[in-house]
Amino acid sequence: PGTIRGEIQFEHMYFWYEDELPVIKDLNLTIQHGETIALVGSTGGGKTTIVNLLCRFYEPKRGRILIGGHDYTDLSLQAIQSRIGVVLQTPHLFSGTIRENIAYGRLKASQQDIEAAAKLVGADHFIQRFEHGYDEQVGEGGVLLSVGQKQLISLARAVLSNPEIFIMDEATSSVDTLTESMIQKGMEAIMQDRTSIIIAHRLSTIKTAHRILVIEDGQIAEMGNHAELLKLKGKYYNLYTR
Ligand code: GTP
Ligand code: MG
Repeated sequence: PGTIRGEIQFEHMYFWYEDELPVIKDLNLTIQHGETIALVGSTGGGKTTIVNLLCRFYEPKRGRILIGGHDYTDLSLQAIQSRIGVVLQTPHLFSGTIRENIAYGRLKASQQDIEAAAKLVGADHFIQRFEHGYDEQVGEGGVLLSVGQKQLISLARAVLSNPEIFIMDEATSSVDTLTESMIQKGMEAIMQDRTSIIIAHRLSTIKTAHRILVIEDGQIAEMGNHAELLKLKGKYYNLYTR
């Protein structure tokens, strides 16, 4: 049925990096098409690793990942990455113009589409202030951008690619309040009707998620919505009532 398209399943997934210390331990999780999941938890718990695996920057050592009901190792890397729009914790822009960074190889994207995507996420605001606007050079030798601004450009890129699955790894480094509220609005615009996984540090993002997962030591320590987890008075409660 059509509802399975953006469904994600982790089945008995294990992962370790080259040092072989276990990072993800027997992760089992089904994320419904259109659902918004927030991953929270203390540093080093394995949240970014889960994103690395889902984007297939790495593959599970044991167990598997299914996207839209298919084992993702049966799909091409390109097919997987074209279905996922991702904003990384430390976003990387390549050397080129802002326009090229938003289009990201989509040669058919028109200037109108690019600007519409930037407007939707609130990136247009700071881009317009550059001398060359969308033609300003970024990356090596270009203008310096904050992490928040890079995330906004990545958000515009994600909007333009119209993915089934949206992943956001919120920056842990400081983002000014204006940029932060732009990011928040941009995320809300993308998350509509899409399967979304948000690694969240801001309570505003977390509260609106359908399900919150506290990830600790590579496992799901707690799961529920904001009200349920507060009532539990456990790890989530301790993280967010301090
Ligand atoms: P924060 O972003 O700080 O909140 O942490 P996180 O939950 O995203 O944790 P992450 O997935 O980045 O890390 C999980 C564990 O894997 C930690 O023990 C890290 O030190 C380790 N780790 C992460 N990336 C690498 C890597 O590239 N190589 C190795 N060897 N270990 C890594
Ligand atoms: Mg991380």
